[in-house]
Amino acid sequence: MEIREWTSIGYLIAAALFIFGLKKLGHPRTAPKGNQLGAMGMLVAVVTTILDMQLAEGDAEWTLILAGLIIGSLIGYWMAVKVEMTGMPELVALFNGFGGAASALVALSETWRYIEGTALPTGLQLTVTMVAAGLSALVGWMTLTGSLLAMLKLKGGVELFGKWIKTPTWGPSWLNGVKILLIIAAFGLIYYGIDNPTDKNVVFGLIAVSSLLGILLVLPIGGADMPVVVSLLNSLSGIAAAFTGFIINNSVLIVAGSLVGASGLILTFIMCKAMNRTLPDVLFKAFGGSGEKESLTRTKVGSDADEVAMMIDGAQKVIIVPGYGMAVSQCQHQVKEFADLIAEKFDTEVYYAIHPVAGRMPGHMNVLLAEANVPYEQLIEMDEINPEFPDCDVALVIGANDTTNPAARTGEGPLAGMPIIDADQARTVVIIKRSLSVGYAGVDNDLFYMDKTMMMFGDGKKMMTELNNAIKEA
Ligand code: TAP
Repeated sequence: MEIREWTSIGYLIAAALFIFGLKKLGHPRTAPKGNQLGAMGMLVAVVTTILDMQLAEGDAEWTLILAGLIIGSLIGYWMAVKVEMTGMPELVALFNGFGGAASALVALSETWRYIEGTALPTGLQLTVTMVAAGLSALVGWMTLTGSLLAMLKLKGGVELFGKWIKTPTWGPSWLNGVKILLIIAAFGLIYYGIDNPTDKNVVFGLIAVSSLLGILLVLPIGGADMPVVVSLLNSLSGIAAAFTGFIINNSVLIVAGSLVGASGLILTFIMCKAMNRTLPDVLFKAFGGSGEKESLTRTKVGSDADEVAMMIDGAQKVIIVPGYGMAVSQCQHQVKEFADLIAEKFDTEVYYAIHPVAGRMPGHMNVLLAEANVPYEQLIEMDEINPEFPDCDVALVIGANDTTNPAARTGEGPLAGMPIIDADQARTVVIIKRSLSVGYAGVDNDLFYMDKTMMMFGDGKKMMTELNNAIKEA
């Protein structure tokens, strides 16, 4: 068998592993296996590529390749170990940016060879390569700058010379015109590059235009829409990789890039639907979370753990509604202990209501609760659990705010139309959070002030531990 054929078989195995891995990522139970399959696919793809370079061309630069692999793996490992669960969206944004930059750099190294006068293809091949390189540069650099800005926005700002500088959200409507002009300029440069493949200025022009476009795309987007944009940028990083696959004639890069591009886009639309937003709304209109928060005028007396434990004693059905505050306080283990305690002591049925955008990234609550070994059967999606609330004795809301805010039903304000968890329909509501303060979208929540609501003010982990102790003593 020819070397090329072995390479194709290696790439086919890698592509199959990616596809099966993605399929398994569709359910929390099979997701860890899916992750492993994807990682295995990547290993097969990398080994195949290196062997192909060595066997076919005999020019694999082993020292450089190994140095890159070791340094990259160490940095990746260190970042993954160090990151807090609440910092995951920022890390994902950063990795998307690196993905886009990697594709753009490979495209750049290829076109740079033409500028230096070597390996210049001719005819149709030149046209295809220049168009693919141009599109890879456009999408790749745009993804890098857009993702870096997205990461800073998720962090809220940056510390410079000891001063905290808030990341701005700015987007007058005329900026959309500028973006359209930049896109036209980028396509103009790509078109010009086909006839002038040795002109360096095309490369530099494209880098400048694409980088600016990435910044202007993300600049007007408000905080609450950031995860949607991060998912879109993830999709773009895949598309850039697929274009690069065409330039270097690498089929596995085309397959993997297309898979990332398509799945990222699907996830983007799922998130838009969960927030009742359209993608053009997300991209071209500023939204809540951009800093404007409603001021609070109402007050509410807090309840303590003993009062709540007494009320829960005898409850037949309890639905736990987790939100971002559970991630911040990392109280998922105490939450699981609570569920086990009341199931054992009071024979209570316990479920978890999972809102698709609770927390700060898709699947945030599933990941945390899976870490605490909560059985998957108890995690019920919003549409399925909502009809259960009128028949539920206690809704225990832990660090969730926007995803339970009845203001979303009014059709006005930043949360308008967002589907919510119907916790307010339960017979009694217990809410654990540190204060009455607003959630991510900046909107005051009527649920806190209802007569049937008991507020337990304090950090999630501390309050859950107190509640568990009170239940043990009840
Ligand atoms: P949020 O509305 O963000 O509210 C979280 C609440 O947690 C805060 O009000 C805060 O109140 C409380 N909290 C913070 N730290 C806490 C701690 N240590 N202990 C206890 N409570 C604590 O949460 P949510 O209901 O999960 O909503 C998510 C928001 O993110 C939505 O607006 C959603 O649209 C947006 N978003 C999410 C996604 C994804 S993919 N998840 C995507 C796009 C947008 P206190 O300060 O009073 O404690």
